[in-house]
Amino acid sequence: MTVQSDASAPTPGPASAQAKGNDIFDLRMARSAPDLWPMLERLYGQRADFAEFCTRLDQLLRDNWRARPPALKRLDLVRDLEPDWFQRPRMVGYVFYIDRFAGKIADIHNRLDYLQSLGVTYVHLMPCLMPRPGDSDGGYSVMDYTRTNPDLGSMADLTKLATALRERGMSLCIDLVLNHTAKEHDWARKAAGGDREYQDMYLMFDDDTLPRRYEQSLIEIFPDTAPGSFTHYPEFGKWVWTTFNEHQWDLNWANPRVFLEIVQIMLNLANKGVDVLRLDAVAFMWKRMGTTCQSQPEVHAILRALRACTRIAAGAAIHLEEAIVGPAEMLTYFGRGEHDGHEGNLAYHNSLMVQYWAALATRDTRLMTHVLRTHFPARLTNATYANYIRCHDDIGWAITDEDAGALGISGSGHRGFLSNFYDGSFPGSFASGALFQVNPETGDKRISGSFASLAGLERAADDHKRQLAVNRILMGTALIAAWGGIPLIYMGDEIGLLNDHAYLDRPDHAHDSRWIHRPVMDWDRVAHAEAAPDSPEGQILHGTRAIMARRAATPGLHGGIATDVLDAGNPAIFAFARRSPTGTILCLFNFTENWQQVPGHWLRYHGVQDMRDLLSDAVVTLHGGNLALPPYGRVWMT
Ligand code: GLC
Ligand code: GLC
Repeated sequence: MTVQSDASAPTPGPASAQAKGNDIFDLRMARSAPDLWPMLERLYGQRADFAEFCTRLDQLLRDNWRARPPALKRLDLVRDLEPDWFQRPRMVGYVFYIDRFAGKIADIHNRLDYLQSLGVTYVHLMPCLMPRPGDSDGGYSVMDYTRTNPDLGSMADLTKLATALRERGMSLCIDLVLNHTAKEHDWARKAAGGDREYQDMYLMFDDDTLPRRYEQSLIEIFPDTAPGSFTHYPEFGKWVWTTFNEHQWDLNWANPRVFLEIVQIMLNLANKGVDVLRLDAVAFMWKRMGTTCQSQPEVHAILRALRACTRIAAGAAIHLEEAIVGPAEMLTYFGRGEHDGHEGNLAYHNSLMVQYWAALATRDTRLMTHVLRTHFPARLTNATYANYIRCHDDIGWAITDEDAGALGISGSGHRGFLSNFYDGSFPGSFASGALFQVNPETGDKRISGSFASLAGLERAADDHKRQLAVNRILMGTALIAAWGGIPLIYMGDEIGLLNDHAYLDRPDHAHDSRWIHRPVMDWDRVAHAEAAPDSPEGQILHGTRAIMARRAATPGLHGGIATDVLDAGNPAIFAFARRSPTGTILCLFNFTENWQQVPGHWLRYHGVQDMRDLLSDAVVTLHGGNLALPPYGRVWMT
């Protein structure tokens, strides 16, 4: 489902002047020029130095292309021929902290067999560039983008790992923080030292007049630990925009110099063999008075232009845009309207994740069905979802008042209920979790906790309850494996790791409950899971492996194939159909601890012919004309 730009369209800017015809760079430039120069003109066209900026960018793209290693140029061609490579059902992601999973970058090689046994083809290393010392927000406060974290290894180690992964048919994803740098970054130090040119790379104010006006419409991200969005530094007499933590200084993307610097950083990483650039906190990149300063139109112009730069000079690499926002806003990161098919290749399906947890708590999938059917198109252009149940961050209840209202429930009431359910305080809750960043002003209470603990494994006091927790986990895993996109396994979830309270003993982590679900990998538990397939961890490990293997063997789950959300007529069951030319796969998920039935005629009406479940690879027998789904049962019927 790949739509290429029309290479013959008029291409303003240096590209058309310099396109010489058959040099591959010029062809790539001509292909993506319509995504690049018009966006830049919109962002920076008013500036006196715009022409000079364009010339510098053109040169920078050429230089990086020239520096691109031959093996990667070959990969560029392979992916030109297979532009859907990241949408294929063989894609399965795994996300981990290098130190907590393996030790150092060089030690990851020893774990690749394990990852391959899980069917993993995409490896996301949590932040690995040089962080500031001390609390670095889990590595998202970067002081040098040209070096790796020396505690983890060198850039040469990273390049070597990328090569080893490529040889195994696996791709490498790393984080690139676009919204801010650490205040220890060289640019920030120069800015603090009074250098005007560097001050202009950040958002700095002489007094608090403008900060106060902006704050009237800003939403605090870390209200508990980093209240407000600005920090006053008396030593150099400025107010600095700090959306996240005090040590994370927001970059000034209205300055084209920032654009040039980031393109250089991005292409340098791509030339080391990085396949997927996870662009962090992109929603916040453009500020506008009177708004929340999130997801402004300029953000999409920047992201489209950045995407074009990668496509021109490092064609094999793609962009994952991290924007954890409400359903309608999230879609814009794939490019909507004029940007359709030209922005992020991947974006997190935050809504699928939120709705999974919400439906589990209520045993009712009606809100889930409503949200996923109303807001999400059946197909995306040149893009697909990164699907997950848990990640390193908290869960924010991104359910709008309008969506809740459509089901006759109160948005704030429902969000409050979900927080109480998952911090474990709601009577009868199966979950163990922790609160994160309670905001009394908005009533917002986010949740931390591991997949297994939130799904009930920690609290389960008997075998029956443990079995229910295991099935909740496998149901969620089967859900993200069947929805269009790349399923992401978050380290340790495949063996049911529980909440880890050890973070409370570390001064640079204790204030941040997200560390409760960032444990150290438990390799003894892996060994036990391998040896005892009937234990909870054994069932989760073997079950996850089986789900991913069945996914890889099912062409109808390709990310380019439509996903149609259906109303199963039974609130206990969430249903969607993947509709390919060779037939329909009907995916059903029971969100309750009771048996549920689905009439056989409903299955046939939606295209199920031979009553085969592709997930168990077995024929299903109907009982009294009905399909019976066990507690938390899941099937992929064809
Ligand atoms: C992203 C990361 C999160 C971090 C934030 C600030 O959202 O996922 O962990 O706190 O960016 O960089
Ligand atoms: C907010 C931000 C998201 C970030 C998270 C960290 O939800 O929107 O980008 O990852 O906070 O907790």
